[in-house]
Amino acid sequence: MSETFFVTTALPYANGPFHIGHIMEYIQADIWVRFERMQGKQVHFVGADDAHGAPIMLKAEAEHVSPEALVARVAAGRARYLDGFHIGFDHWHSTHSPENTALSQDIYRRLRAAGLIYARPVEQFFDPLKGMFLADRYIKGECPKCHAKDQYGDACEVCGSVYAPTELIEPYSALTGARPVLKTSDHFFFKLSDPRCVNFLQEWLEAAGHVQPQVANKAREWLAGQGEQALGDWDISRDAPYFGIPIPDAPGKFFYVWLDAPIGYLAALKSYFESGKARARGETRTFEAFLAAPDTRQVHFIGKDIIYFHTLFWPAMLHFAGAPFRAPDNVHVHGFITVSGEKMSKSRGTGISPLRYLELGMNPEWLRYYIAAKLNANVEDLDFNPADFAARVNSDLIGKYVNIASRAANFITRHFGGALDYPRGTAALTERAREVLERVRTSYAARDFGRAMREIMAFADRVNQEFDAREPWVLAKDPARREALQDSCAQALYGFKTLTCLLAPVLPALAERVARELFGLERALSFADALEPPRHINPYQHLMTRVDPKQLDALLEPPAPPPAPAAAAKAPAEPPAPAGPAAGTPISIETFKQIDLRVARIAAAEAVIGADKLLKLTLDLGGETRTVFAGIKSAYDPAVLVGRLTVMVANLAPRKMKFGLSEGMVLAASGADGGPFLLSPDAGALPGMRIS
Ligand code: 2FM
Ligand code: ZN
Repeated sequence: MSETFFVTTALPYANGPFHIGHIMEYIQADIWVRFERMQGKQVHFVGADDAHGAPIMLKAEAEHVSPEALVARVAAGRARYLDGFHIGFDHWHSTHSPENTALSQDIYRRLRAAGLIYARPVEQFFDPLKGMFLADRYIKGECPKCHAKDQYGDACEVCGSVYAPTELIEPYSALTGARPVLKTSDHFFFKLSDPRCVNFLQEWLEAAGHVQPQVANKAREWLAGQGEQALGDWDISRDAPYFGIPIPDAPGKFFYVWLDAPIGYLAALKSYFESGKARARGETRTFEAFLAAPDTRQVHFIGKDIIYFHTLFWPAMLHFAGAPFRAPDNVHVHGFITVSGEKMSKSRGTGISPLRYLELGMNPEWLRYYIAAKLNANVEDLDFNPADFAARVNSDLIGKYVNIASRAANFITRHFGGALDYPRGTAALTERAREVLERVRTSYAARDFGRAMREIMAFADRVNQEFDAREPWVLAKDPARREALQDSCAQALYGFKTLTCLLAPVLPALAERVARELFGLERALSFADALEPPRHINPYQHLMTRVDPKQLDALLEPPAPPPAPAAAAKAPAEPPAPAGPAAGTPISIETFKQIDLRVARIAAAEAVIGADKLLKLTLDLGGETRTVFAGIKSAYDPAVLVGRLTVMVANLAPRKMKFGLSEGMVLAASGADGGPFLLSPDAGALPGMRIS
């Protein structure tokens, strides 16, 4: 069997829908996969959700669902995007799967047997309220250098200094506001600094083609780092509670999400093999035999933010785990997508919404073409510029490509009943088509899709020019020039067929329609078809509309605010609603605004002698303090409340109680399933901030 590809894209975290950055990467990989298939290569293209880690665990907790349920809900939404943009993964799996558990534990055991795993105690901040160790991003406090408040545990966003979370002044947990305590626990490490790993990685990076030259340079810098920059060993364990894969022989320890995430590539492939889908593609080997085969090419498409994991840990893990595992053959790195020059945030997923794009009825192949036209093989950012998008799609796809068929086909249908012959022969055009096909193939193979699109459009320009020069609309009026009419249109339609084949990896749905509807082919196009003159066409049917600027405006509009209460729309003219409406009764925005909600830090908390349900809270409103008696004793130990942020009604009339004056109220949720659950603002909120 000749070389067979196993292709993946980075596995997206399963805590939210795809954003435009994901879609760009998948389109890039999908175009390359379709290209390789069109030239006869066997390709297995798999993806999966990256399901583990603390953020997913905490998000599920905040939503009162299990992490499994959260991951399943997100997974259920994937097909809409993938199908919508014609992204043809053969199989979509999850890192939270039996295959991934077995593979991760197997690879770990092999690395341990190779002497590349060791344990050592690590002292880390621990949130006593939450009962968990805190990653740096969950710790905040005052910057030790410039004294800016509320900086993250690893670096200050104000002065830019980098430090350990333990250096923060007045640290607090961003999850609960509690003061974290230092606690020691054993962690497992992968010995990346072992000379065997370093030597192997140097060789792997040296070998031509594994990674782009600029990526190899970056990875070599990391490998050669000295002093503070020295290559560190990799902490691969996390303590319970953690949503992840248990580490063998180590109760309460889980693999850090980044250990099992890339192994998820293999888990997805294994599940794909076991599902029978690989066999349906003609692959008869087992998963293990396929992986170990010397002609298998393991290819990963990733973004530039995760180079470190994919060019150091991942190849080393695979290599030292031993057969059937092998270091990747290629790690192809792309830049980020910006929208009108603005960087989008990976976590917030700002930028253009892929779903909105589809919902607006915008053609997914416009975006595929635009991305292809702007991509090359370097690690460069790609800008989505709306005016440029409309201009390129309209001028290239409609003005150059579709235009050929829409003009030439009607003459052939009307005057020749669909029959094509070539009075001047096809040799000249075949020769030119062969040349352009070669150049386009080289560009696709090198992932220089921009160059491929330029070559294709230059060929389209030439076909159009020749067609125009022969003025078929004039020829059509003169029965004596029937032969010239036939030839000019036939040549143009042959050119159109060549172009369709060349564009098929980028425009798969359109190419399939053209092949079936216009050329009557009931099979997928291959590159051999590019050099086969068509002999007959069916009547032309409309192929593609132009980009409508209104759709683009709608795409770029900021998302609508959440719907206002019914009364709010008429609010200005309405008198305030009566106080104390029943649950669900609409109130005006003015009424709502009368409530002064504030972020408060619980400065002190104590039980109240003689009161079963009450805690006495001292709330810090950013200078001013208030005393509040809250009925939360059943759910909270006062000691763990100190330091955390919550929400209070600051303008509630003071109420004299048996135990003292209560100067407000803290907000908590409760229902049939329990409570009370105190509300907390997201990280970043400060005592005294107004809530609206
Ligand atoms: O950066 C991310 O979104 C990760 N979920 C990518 C994982 S890629 C692979 F290792 F699974
Ligand atoms: Zn600072």
